[in-house]
Amino acid sequence: MTEHNFPPLQNDRILRAAKGEEVDKAPVWIMRQAGRYLPEFRELRSKHDFFTICQTPALACEITLQPIKRFDLDASIIFSDILVVPQVMGLTVEMKPGVGPVLPNPLLDPSHISRLITPNVEADLGYVGEAITLTRQKLNGKVPLIGFTGAPWTLMCYMIEGGGSSTLSKSRPWLYKYREDSHKLLQMITDVIIDYLVMQVKAGAQLLQVFESHGDFLNLELFEEYSFKYLKQISEKVKQKLDVQNIPRVPMIAFPKGATLDSLELLAQDESYDVIGLDWTVNPQEARSRLGDKVTLQGNMDPCAMFDTPQNVRKRAAKIVENFGKRRYIANLGHGILPETPVASVESFIAGVHSI
Ligand code: CP3
Repeated sequence: MTEHNFPPLQNDRILRAAKGEEVDKAPVWIMRQAGRYLPEFRELRSKHDFFTICQTPALACEITLQPIKRFDLDASIIFSDILVVPQVMGLTVEMKPGVGPVLPNPLLDPSHISRLITPNVEADLGYVGEAITLTRQKLNGKVPLIGFTGAPWTLMCYMIEGGGSSTLSKSRPWLYKYREDSHKLLQMITDVIIDYLVMQVKAGAQLLQVFESHGDFLNLELFEEYSFKYLKQISEKVKQKLDVQNIPRVPMIAFPKGATLDSLELLAQDESYDVIGLDWTVNPQEARSRLGDKVTLQGNMDPCAMFDTPQNVRKRAAKIVENFGKRRYIANLGHGILPETPVASVESFIAGVHSI
């Protein structure tokens, strides 16, 4: 791996907030900030298949930069998808317009785990590393670049359900019916994720976010056994591997969407993540008092609140910063921005955050 010589960083608000340092203004970024609500995204997307964009560093870089050119954001996030991991483990993933991701040959029972392959992460996901390195250069130090992955449980759900699911009625039974095989599968995914995140940091990622998008289907007991255990392992092993290779550690964000406050508290007390992402159902003051001041909180405006008037979006954003407090806080939505969101709302949201 070659050493990179990236331009100096001009805006370190999000890094300072993640470490618990003072900031002049709360940093803000938006999950799915490069996406279909932007006309320039739709334009480029109409010409290329979704995964072709992910696999072409110049295109992934261009899309990553689109929201950075338009808005006063404090971070960028590399354009990719959490489902590139199941892909390199041997499962076909298609992105169907109007449907979302489809895995035509999901794992129907534990015997199918043997269909999975152990990827060579540096080679098979090297295109993500190249996109990160290119984007770091093109950003020219304007804002930090976030790398990301899906969490093991969330990826396991996609592998078993064969796509998105509102009930997880195929994957959740595994946790009772096939406990050992569930752990075997989660560990296989975890091993890939660890190498993947280390590779992203080597390539230039300055923060890492782990998306546990299916945290909402786990009570405390299930969260501890099937999510937290692996989230913790990911954080510990990524840090270990970076230390051994003499690469500086980067702050890590866990976003267990829909997790109960008990689960969030478990994660916060463990201190394996610097930042915990919250969805919009969590009360800011309650989260702050239960999760303590050793962790930075991120979120949590309802993505649907972006459909209010621009004045109200701005007021609500300012209010959320006041409720969380400017210290140890990163403003964001409580989940990805919706494709129908007015662009003006994004401007108002960012202006509201920065007005405090
Ligand atoms: O945030 C960013 O700007 C970076 C890019 C990013 C995408 N997906 C691009 C994308 C990130 C961080 C993701 C993460 C992701 N992907 C998650 C975790 C976050 C979450 O939403 O809970 C999940 C669950 C996925 C899987 C996935 N990819 C789904 C469910 C969908 C369909 C959603 C939809 O709105 O249709 C995707 C597709 C996808 N990933 C799009 C984008 C911009 C839209 C697809 C398109 O252009 O056709």
